[in-house]
Amino acid sequence: MNDPAARVRIFDTSLRDGEQSPGCSMTAAQKLRFAHALAELGVDALEAGFPASSDADRDAVRAIAREVRGSTVATLARCHEGDIDACAAALEGAAHPRIHVFISTSPLHREHKLGLSREQVVERAVMGVSRARRLVDDVEFSAEDALRTEPEFLAEICSAAIAAGATTLNIPDTVGYTTPSEIRALFEYLRANVRDADRAVFSAHCHNDLGLAVANSLAAIEGGARQVECTINGIGERAGNCALEELVMALRVRSHYYGAHTRIDSRRLVPTSRLLSRITGMAVQRNKAVVGQNAFAHESGIHQHGMLKHRGTYEIMRPEDVGWSQSQMVMGRHSGRAALADRLQALGFQLEEAALNRTFAAFKTLAEKKREVFDADLEALVLGSDAVAHRGWRLSRLHVSTGAGGEADTMPTASVQLHGADGETVSEAAVGDGPVHALFAALARATGIELDVDSYQVSSVTTGDDAQGQAQVIARVDGVEVTGSGTSTDILEASAHAWLDIANRQSRARAPAVHRHAAIA
Ligand code: KIV
Ligand code: ZN
Repeated sequence: MNDPAARVRIFDTSLRDGEQSPGCSMTAAQKLRFAHALAELGVDALEAGFPASSDADRDAVRAIAREVRGSTVATLARCHEGDIDACAAALEGAAHPRIHVFISTSPLHREHKLGLSREQVVERAVMGVSRARRLVDDVEFSAEDALRTEPEFLAEICSAAIAAGATTLNIPDTVGYTTPSEIRALFEYLRANVRDADRAVFSAHCHNDLGLAVANSLAAIEGGARQVECTINGIGERAGNCALEELVMALRVRSHYYGAHTRIDSRRLVPTSRLLSRITGMAVQRNKAVVGQNAFAHESGIHQHGMLKHRGTYEIMRPEDVGWSQSQMVMGRHSGRAALADRLQALGFQLEEAALNRTFAAFKTLAEKKREVFDADLEALVLGSDAVAHRGWRLSRLHVSTGAGGEADTMPTASVQLHGADGETVSEAAVGDGPVHALFAALARATGIELDVDSYQVSSVTTGDDAQGQAQVIARVDGVEVTGSGTSTDILEASAHAWLDIANRQSRARAPAVHRHAAIA
């Protein structure tokens, strides 16, 4: 590589490219919490959203721009005046704002999506970049579907974007089509053929349709990319984006080979990954590199023997360096408020007084039920108490009975009592094919909300027979997939919380704007 001490900037797009994928939607408050976690992780830039796409996205970007410090806050816009102005308005108050404009450049997209000639596409790109540049100093230009674009046309539009004021040129493999040697050669070609190439940072944005997103991003770095766009846990459109944790650890573990480094605090990788999967309810596969539960598990006798002699025999990185804590057992029922605050801080949660009080009360209740409270339990508590802080239905009583045999007296039955946002109390009961079916029917009767449930699953938060259960419900609301999650030592109670999580999101989304703003604050 030309530059032996190359610094690669990490641009996280979990809140934009990631969040727009099925099962990953987040509320504005959840986005804000996650944006803080990304800044603590040390990302150079975080893409907070696409303000012109919805009021909710605009509000979330505003809150992030006002509060998050330490990382550039970027927002996405098509090359349309309205989109670009919406970005600038949403970014007000940001310490380091960036507007990211994009337009499709491949022949397929030019003809079938845009109906524009090459010249018209360049003209729009120049308009978009120049307008953004009049509003902020930091402008990124993306050539959508770049990897299926004629290289000489790509060089032409990138040259025009630099002349119009772009400071970062992003080359997306929008459909995950490229291969490592091809993308490396393309970056080398662009760096040699784009006019004034040294005035901009070249960036890779790889999708994972062929499972090559990380490999392709690493190859792009070999070709001269100095920014990589990625997401935590690799979430994103279809098969996802380049997984941040994998890319960062590949650069670190193979630093002599790549000669490149990032400013990511790798010990925050596992907590950030876990935070995202708790917020979205999207579990990380056990054998996922770096952040999966099995990533450092050694089961075979031969491997265990080797590990006992020397860890390096079967481990290329240390679990603690990516944030797996050595000892998972942290708290018990005698632990105090200050110890809880300390441990939460180590897990990346800085709670204000009211939130800490809510979490401490929930911790005491949990510690009465469970002998050992693990980090994962604490994370679930914080996120659970966030949900309680929001307006909406809360479960105050639950009774479920079940049986087999098909007689009336063995029919699964559930009764619930809920408190509403306006102080009302509602009680309802229902029967069903099974206890969960009966429970969801009782909740629907009590709230008057019908959910079209697509999937339902329960997993355990930690190990042991007193582990908390985490329930995840995915439902379709107005054609959009929404995920709800709930945690409790009782899996039926966890299931009720997960169902209510979606119902409350649905009510908030339909509430007048003033209530939505209140939820962000
Ligand atoms: O995949 C893609 O092309 C994108 C652009 C909007 C950057 O996400
Ligand atoms: Zn993308």
